[in-house]
Amino acid sequence: MSGFPVHRPRRLRRTAALRALVRESRLAPEQLILPLFVVPGAGVREPVESMPGVARTSVDELLQDAEEAYEGGLGGVLLFGVPPEKDELGSGAWDPDGVVQNAVRHLRRAFPELTVVTDVCLCEYTSHGHCGVLDDDGRVLNDESLEHLAWTATSHAEAGADIVAPSDMMDGRVGAIRRALDEAGHSGVAILSYAAKYASAFYGPFRDAAHSTPSSGDRRGYQMDPPNADEALREVRMDIEEGADMVMVKPALPYLDVVRRVKTETGWPVAAYHVSGEYAQAMAAGEKGWLDAEAVLEESLLAIRRAGADVVITYWAREYARRWRERRGA
Ligand code: PBG
Repeated sequence: MSGFPVHRPRRLRRTAALRALVRESRLAPEQLILPLFVVPGAGVREPVESMPGVARTSVDELLQDAEEAYEGGLGGVLLFGVPPEKDELGSGAWDPDGVVQNAVRHLRRAFPELTVVTDVCLCEYTSHGHCGVLDDDGRVLNDESLEHLAWTATSHAEAGADIVAPSDMMDGRVGAIRRALDEAGHSGVAILSYAAKYASAFYGPFRDAAHSTPSSGDRRGYQMDPPNADEALREVRMDIEEGADMVMVKPALPYLDVVRRVKTETGWPVAAYHVSGEYAQAMAAGEKGWLDAEAVLEESLLAIRRAGADVVITYWAREYARRWRERRGA
């Protein structure tokens, strides 16, 4: 019998049941977070062209999407606001009656057990589209932006958010937000920091959805340089020291090495954001008939889990949950 292999990995691939028995990574709907875009008004549902299946909605419509998320057993929703007006400072971000604050209050009332996460940033609210305060030369001022971000996070907590998620990438914002939350009596509100957020070309469709493309320049002065991974670990450690309860890597697929390192080297709860461009490219190739979009998305989300993410933020969360239930015959 010489020449025949002793180990035959194929033995455990023979049937679907055997494959399931030895599967190393699983991804349940409760590990997924669905991003939602909220606009003012009522009865509004504007599809985002570059993100099939995604829409900007008013609160009443948002409640329907949230109900689907809740019924589907998703881990939560992540809210982004598209305000009616923008100004130089982005003051709509911390308006107690702003789009996000209003949506959080409605969600809290309608689905007390649904985890509500809010994105904390200024770029959707500033007339220039940058994530902080600008100086006269158009540079983003770090320390001057911290107070505004802290006000924004506190206003989300006041409205009832479970988790605030700062995505601005200013240095020191996690500490500033933690202090502000504690002082305002919100010590129970958690922080999910976009700790390793790269200056990525994959955010394009999101900026269409949220109307947050910078009117001049780009975000490379504050978001991370894509070739760097050691620096991501430094960013993550800083955020943990400042009080982050969970840390995020974003985008996901091009940065799976970073996801793995953050998980292994910190042991902290890690979220990975499968961003708009990652979603859009799968959907676009699917529409052309060049790829099976559903299979590609499912494989992508599982790969992110395999790399070490505890939580995956994805525009495809509801569809994933639907397929997951169907497979269980539920
Ligand atoms: C806001 C923010 C962005 C995303 C999440 N929060 C855009 C950006 O930084 O330009 C991107 C999400 C996505 O592409 O799906 N700062």
